[in-house]
Amino acid sequence: MLRPSAEVAQKIISVVKRKYKNVAESLACQFQYPTGKEGLQGGHYPEELIGLLPDDVTKWYCGVGNPLSLSKIVSGEKVLDLGCGAGIDAILAAKMVGSSGLSVGVDISEEMIKRAQSNKKISQTTNVLFQVVEVAALPFYDEQFDVVTTNAMLNLAVDKKRALKEAYRVLKKGGRLHVADQILVGSAMCSEQAMDCWFK
Ligand SMILES: C[S@@+](CC[C@H](N)C(=O)[O-])C[C@H]1O[C@@H](n2cnc3c(N)ncnc32)[C@H](O)[C@@H]1O
Repeated sequence: MLRPSAEVAQKIISVVKRKYKNVAESLACQFQYPTGKEGLQGGHYPEELIGLLPDDVTKWYCGVGNPLSLSKIVSGEKVLDLGCGAGIDAILAAKMVGSSGLSVGVDISEEMIKRAQSNKKISQTTNVLFQVVEVAALPFYDEQFDVVTTNAMLNLAVDKKRALKEAYRVLKKGGRLHVADQILVGSAMCSEQAMDCWFK
């Protein structure tokens, strides 16, 4: 697995934060794949699920698949979304778990978390919380969540091994990890090339 030096790792984190500060303002020209409602439809989210959210919320979606479909999320469960962005999956998970459950979304970008807070308000969802967090160090006790979900975040995380270790730590025994992401096909780059290629 690609392991950048500490210096390169810091640079990558600041480039990721800068990119998502801009994304929180507008998705225009930021991605090479469909985003917003078109992205949700392309990712085969059921229409009735998409219909639960106003267009002003779905327009901020920039995931690459539908991780919520990977097992049935039911009433009363506790779900954690890693790299929640503007909060679309976390808000949809909140609708699935209902008022007896809880959905938590975390993201490294303060601006994306502000956007998620705004989307929480617009969608009138109460059982969802958002917090600025780096996924390699989750501020949660062990075995708290029934489901950990993540959509298009792991490919950006510098320390993927630690992010996955943290995800497993906070999952209850028998909990489920739902991942939608992009993978590199071919050989890994050396660390000097990594930053230039991080968003390709
Ligand atoms: C492509 S966006 C996907 C957002 C959201 N999951 C969605 O489907 O719309 C990736 C998100 O991961 C976040 N991210 C990247 N690296 C992260 C890290 N190390 N810790 C937490 N969040 C991270 C970014 O800030 C960004 O909001």
